[in-house]
Amino acid sequence: MRLENKKIIVTAAAQGIGRATALKFASEGANVIATDINEQKLEEIKSLNPSIEIAKLDSTNKEEVENFYAKIDNIDVLFHAVGFVHHGALLDCDTDEFHNSININIFSAYLMTHTALPKMLKKKKGNIVIVSSAASSVKGVPNRFIYTTTKAALNGFVKSVAADYIKDGIRCNAILPGTVETPSWEGRVQMADDPEQARKDFIARQAMGRLAQPEEIASMALYLASDESDFVTGTLNLIDGGWTL
Ligand SMILES: NC(=O)c1ccc[n+]([C@@H]2O[C@H](COP(=O)([O-])OP(=O)(O)OC[C@H]3O[C@@H](n4cnc5c(N)ncnc54)[C@H](O)[C@@H]3O)[C@@H](O)[C@H]2O)c1
Repeated sequence: MRLENKKIIVTAAAQGIGRATALKFASEGANVIATDINEQKLEEIKSLNPSIEIAKLDSTNKEEVENFYAKIDNIDVLFHAVGFVHHGALLDCDTDEFHNSININIFSAYLMTHTALPKMLKKKKGNIVIVSSAASSVKGVPNRFIYTTTKAALNGFVKSVAADYIKDGIRCNAILPGTVETPSWEGRVQMADDPEQARKDFIARQAMGRLAQPEEIASMALYLASDESDFVTGTLNLIDGGWTL
């Protein structure tokens, strides 16, 4: 039980990396609150592990986030996985799409952390884990302009929070996955002109010749969420099957 009695909030928990992580955390003894905008899919996670509490929460909505945190006294870990992949280069990204990605990918992390941090500071201990991406300050990827830009900003966010609050017992780290087989990834494959070729291309770009499974990302999340990583802060943890070698 590597997370016994830890109170952990997981965002984007209805599917993919967030769901696998919420399940892994709960199986290691954490008291997990799984949040997402997709209430129906959140119900599924409850049926997989009834100990998990669920709450419908839009991580970009200030009022919703404040009301959510107002009901929670103690937070040990915030695991934030909300993110959106916009397809296209700079000239394919109009003003609305630009602001939408900033809102989902960066503002949500700011809002979830800004509201949780005072509760963590009160007890001089807290741990924030943010899901960024290898497509960020680490690697430029074709047709991922605003995604890569916002994920690079998240890497800066993690360094900044880690530096500012290190003396207050707060840790903040990022996970930078390569390509992970999740429902939204499958959606991106299906949206391509030739889905079978797109699937092959996604797999080929991973040096290991396969995609990651969400559970593999959850294993890294488990380490970062646990006290085993107590000396680790401000780190950008690649888990990308050799994509950025
Ligand atoms: N799948 C990949 O290949 C991959 C690679 C690198 C990084 N990531 C990152 O991992 C994270 C999770 O991606 P995934 O592919 O596992 O998940 P996904 O895209 O399959 O699911 C995302 C979940 O986020 C929820 N969501 C969207 N907007 C929300 C909001 N405003 N508030 C609350 N919930 C919201 C959706 O309802 C959905 O359940 C994202 O930040 C993504 O950028 C994914």
